[in-house]
Amino acid sequence: MAYILTLDQGTTSSRAIIYDDKLHTVSMAQKPIALSTPKPDFVEQNANEIWFTTLFCIQEALNRANLNAHDISAIAITNQRETCVFWDALTGEPLAPAIVWQDRRTQKFCQQLTKTNPKLADAIPRLTGLRLDPYFSATKIHWALTHLPKVAHAHAQGRLRFGTVDSWLNFKLTGNHTTDISNASRTALFDIHRCDWSDELLAGFGIDRRILPQVLPCDGEFGHTKRALFSSAIPVVAMMGDQQAALYGQGCHDIGQAKNTYGTGCFLLMNVGQADNVEQTNTGAHLHHNDEQSVIRTIAWQQSTLTKDNQSREKPAAHATHYALEGSVFMAGAIVSWLKDNLGILQNSSDIEALANSVPDTDGVVLIPAFTGLGAPHWRGDLSASLTGLTRSHTKAHIAKAALHAIAHQSYDVLHAMQAQSQKPLTELRVDGGAAKNDYLMQFQADILGVPVLRAKDIESTAKGAAMMVARKLGWAQNFYWQCERTFEPSMSSDQRESLLNLWQTRLAWALS
Ligand code: G3P
Repeated sequence: MAYILTLDQGTTSSRAIIYDDKLHTVSMAQKPIALSTPKPDFVEQNANEIWFTTLFCIQEALNRANLNAHDISAIAITNQRETCVFWDALTGEPLAPAIVWQDRRTQKFCQQLTKTNPKLADAIPRLTGLRLDPYFSATKIHWALTHLPKVAHAHAQGRLRFGTVDSWLNFKLTGNHTTDISNASRTALFDIHRCDWSDELLAGFGIDRRILPQVLPCDGEFGHTKRALFSSAIPVVAMMGDQQAALYGQGCHDIGQAKNTYGTGCFLLMNVGQADNVEQTNTGAHLHHNDEQSVIRTIAWQQSTLTKDNQSREKPAAHATHYALEGSVFMAGAIVSWLKDNLGILQNSSDIEALANSVPDTDGVVLIPAFTGLGAPHWRGDLSASLTGLTRSHTKAHIAKAALHAIAHQSYDVLHAMQAQSQKPLTELRVDGGAAKNDYLMQFQADILGVPVLRAKDIESTAKGAAMMVARKLGWAQNFYWQCERTFEPSMSSDQRESLLNLWQTRLAWALS
């Protein structure tokens, strides 16, 4: 029997999952990782902890499956995106804490840049499909180069290496400095039309191209694990940003198909095919440029197109690049963690469903969860969260229900903006991620969206997607098909739906004003 090992390195934990050749999960190991917030707006992680927890999970997953490294045919890496790691090429050691995607220390810099360097600010949406926002890596790298002497010194000496988490893990595993195109497309330094780092953006942010990893397709040859780590050299043959992997794992391979992953944040991605802009409509995608870029354009994946050789065996040929629209919502599951860890109104995150179900409605309570500003479609990094409509009769149950409603309303707002931009009405939404287990949230999501919500049988779509990328490369893809565990049909009356949407929009308008 042959196996695939997927490393799924997320914001809150590192995981290793082993799949068999039918993509059934054989074993899984998970270890939480710490987030630190040393100053307001700063969100950091220890890059060595990211690596050591991953290594621990690999060993643990092998032990639990009673396998050893020889049994693993290939490794896939999927990861939290945009998070920046800086290390020394000679020692292989991190030079600073990793700056996490949620970090907003460059908020002011972004605001200033629109005035001081409008040419650079304009180049970002045009070349990268993204926005000038602290979320993406470019301004974080610039901050590190201008504020951290060790990083600046290594940059000047040609010893600095930058990478997102995929790149960092692959460096530790194989010694190679590589990334994949889906992760590269999240840095705000990558030209998604030419599929290369942009010299214009690198010059604008003062970044030397040599610190950046080599960019490969998602099913590229990323190297073999070092002999010192495992008893055999395992090839790393797939790498994908976690949200793109989830889109792939949810089987959204056709234009117009969309998924929403309810993790730390909420990430709604719609497949728009091989068109990188409005001019290329021959594939059926009708992307309209939107100067405000309320939903972003990103690379979904790039994979080899398979052709048959003269013995009818499939072999990789050229690479095809697929694009997606994405609405990135910064707080989803993290709202539930806040209720648990900061307010102490939940013992376990899963308690929220019963608590929310204990009251018929929120009775006018609305949570606008701008704890780290608001992402898509509003992009207001300057906001803070608000809880409004409270009276003496309200209890923690109303707050819990308002928290779940906030997750669903944010996804509605994203979808609304996405449909306007793509001109493609959504007929169903596939869902996954931890909070997708919450039946109340999924039903409310279907009610508010007015379209069926389909929960995948395997809600670990991220890890599954990366494993599918490997399986396809190994010629096992025919063994996999997507399965729906449950469909949530919209059932709310249109009056009730309208009134809930109006309440949310009114309170949101207060927060935005
Ligand atoms: O863009 C950030 C995203 O990749 C984080 O994903 O699953 O760690 O919340 P997750």
